[in-house]
Amino acid sequence: MIDVRSGLTRFVERLGRRHRASEKRERPDGARERRFVQPHVDKSTHRYAPSFFEGRGFLNETHPKVEELVDDIRGKLEPGDHAKLYEAGYFARGPVLEIGRLHGRSTVVLAMGIRDGRGDGHLTSIEYDDRYLPWARRHLKSHRLLKRVTLLQGDSSTIVRGLDATFDTVFVDGDHSYDGVIADIGALEGRIAPTGVIMFHDYFHPLNETGEYGVRRAVDERKDDLGLEYRGRFGGIALFERVANRRARANPRMAARQVAHDDPGGREGGPRRSV
Ligand SMILES: C[S@@+](CC[C@H](N)C(=O)[O-])C[C@H]1O[C@@H](n2cnc3c(N)ncnc32)[C@H](O)[C@@H]1O
Repeated sequence: MIDVRSGLTRFVERLGRRHRASEKRERPDGARERRFVQPHVDKSTHRYAPSFFEGRGFLNETHPKVEELVDDIRGKLEPGDHAKLYEAGYFARGPVLEIGRLHGRSTVVLAMGIRDGRGDGHLTSIEYDDRYLPWARRHLKSHRLLKRVTLLQGDSSTIVRGLDATFDTVFVDGDHSYDGVIADIGALEGRIAPTGVIMFHDYFHPLNETGEYGVRRAVDERKDDLGLEYRGRFGGIALFERVANRRARANPRMAARQVAHDDPGGREGGPRRSV
């Protein structure tokens, strides 16, 4: 029998099969293989560049409008942060953590990405100051995102140490002092999934030069311990990917430490209030 399908049709079908197979490819522990993260990109301006998918455009119609959609929420994000946070939420494959929410501007953006994305992410958001809680709740409610977020109140490093979770995506924007960031990073050790993503806000802020902020110093000192590799600047965000497992396989001492990190026992502490 003569095959009447054109070569082009067969080619497109073959591509589709290959794409579906690669989408399904999973490691034995259920996590998908390393997500695509575009190599180092420097976008300090508001112009957007993707990290987790190939191409130049936006993900959907909401993506370029995110900043406008949260314009009424008091916050400290830079223009370029909004699209990156939405993208990070969109591609999250598991639990998402935010440290430092103020009135919830970054919270709403991350939750919008989670809502519109393909993963099964849920956002846990930590804030120290109780005064901001009603604002965050109000904004999440008005965007119909309240059910996608767990709002925790208290000191971030204490709370994180008490959480029995490994996070796929983390946004750190809490205590900007050197000691504060060191404490957050210490608490996160062992709680970032292999190939997870972590974003540090204000890593590029000029106050890092005077020592008033210690974000850059703390991150630079500790990033290797966490197995973080720099993936670019987006607004005020420094984006890192956790690649420790790959390195750990090549280094038995690091592998032993990694096992301890990935299976931490005896976690203590807990949030003051869960909403
Ligand atoms: C720069 S603001 C966060 C801005 C917010 N991400 C936004 O989108 O506008 C920093 C927040 O971190 C909170 N914070 C400071 N130290 C903290 C700590 N140790 N634990 C939890 N939150 C903390 C502050 O109360 C403040 O609301």
